[in-house]
Amino acid sequence: MDIRIPRGTQDILPQEAGIWQFIDQKIHDICARYNYREIRTPIFEQTELFQRSVGDTTDIVQKEMYTFKDRGDRSLTLRPEGTASVVRSYVENKMFGSAQQPEKLYYVGPMFRYERPQSGRMRQFVQFGVEAIGSSDPAIDAEVIALSMEFYREIGLKGLKLVLNSLGDKESRTAHRDALINHFEPYIEEFCSDCQQRLKKNPLRILDCKKDKDNPLMDTAPSILDYLNEESQNYFETVKDLLSKMDIDYVIDPGLVRGLDYYNNTAFEIMIEGEGFGAITTLMGGGRYNGLVEEMGGPESPGIGFALSIERLIMALKTQDALPELQEGIDIYLAAIGDASSQAASELLFDLRRAGVKADKDYMNKKLKAQFKAADRLNAKYTAVLGDNERLAGKITLKEMKSGEQMEISLKDFPEHMKSLLREDAR
Ligand code: HAM
Repeated sequence: MDIRIPRGTQDILPQEAGIWQFIDQKIHDICARYNYREIRTPIFEQTELFQRSVGDTTDIVQKEMYTFKDRGDRSLTLRPEGTASVVRSYVENKMFGSAQQPEKLYYVGPMFRYERPQSGRMRQFVQFGVEAIGSSDPAIDAEVIALSMEFYREIGLKGLKLVLNSLGDKESRTAHRDALINHFEPYIEEFCSDCQQRLKKNPLRILDCKKDKDNPLMDTAPSILDYLNEESQNYFETVKDLLSKMDIDYVIDPGLVRGLDYYNNTAFEIMIEGEGFGAITTLMGGGRYNGLVEEMGGPESPGIGFALSIERLIMALKTQDALPELQEGIDIYLAAIGDASSQAASELLFDLRRAGVKADKDYMNKKLKAQFKAADRLNAKYTAVLGDNERLAGKITLKEMKSGEQMEISLKDFPEHMKSLLREDAR
């Protein structure tokens, strides 16, 4: 068989699954503390959803979407990101009508982008994202940013740099757009064909072009920060002020434009500094998207959110040698001698597991010595031996692996006994 895993995807094998579960738990914990509730949306959506929200001129929509026709001739797309789906669901389920606004939501799930795979850039990757929809209080911008920074801090990642920018409101953006057109138009022949198209449709996208990033006109392009009107300026000042009050350091980068079209006002990314991380240094990205809910047919409901990928987080933890040490293993391994005892062990296992004990036994007809080895490999805290003599006497011999201490326990009370032993061990 020569069937291989598709390019840009990965198997998460059991020995790595523990760290994913650990991170999942951290996500649920921090979101509960910040009062964000989980939302789960489909993995595919109507293609138009992403064209309208992420934007027709973005790389994601033009080059990276997994789009297909279903058997009913509908154009569907594997989601390249989560915000569009959350906003669609917010509108479709009339969440804007609920008394509690903003609606604070989070999600964890696979996203799909047809990108050139390299380390930290996958075709299927898992995003953790949050979206707060329904408020334009700058304090919610600060909250969302704080949540992401705290998440990384609690997991143990260091050397993070928060980069901030403001893309301004509609009026500021229009003024900036005109300035960008004036700046690039006389020299647009020097730019790639994508940028030539972007000039009139969405000149901000030129600043995000990977092909033309070294053109000197990029550095001299008009900065959005010089075109912010008073309201946008004040908004940005308040967000910065709140972050400073929370002791969250940041740097301002007027060149941060983000790769999706729905943003305005606050935009941010978290980068990682330090050696050994390669070309991919952006861990997380997000921003404000006032107007997106209206675009999807809902009432005015300003939103803000971020997303980060778990793959890049794990990569960063690995380069910093900061992967958490997880205690993996079972509570007890039941070793049995002979068929009758092996059968009795199966019954006992059932009772142990029902009592909440992590337990296993041999299913490969192994000799006793090999069963002990298996217990070691499984990192069992206890091993119990069940042979004909013990079974007929209604007893079992229990051994604590660390101390080597042995004890005989009545079979009848065994599950309860194990439960209380483990409870004591945990103290
Ligand atoms: P994004 O910047 O396209 O924003 O992606 C956010 C994060 O997803 C990136 O910073 C990176 O960690 C991760 N990511 C993106 N592409 C890949 C890839 N090919 N392989 C591995 N990781 C990747 C969004 O997706 C927006 N929806 C964020 C947002 C939420 N804005 C507002 N709310």
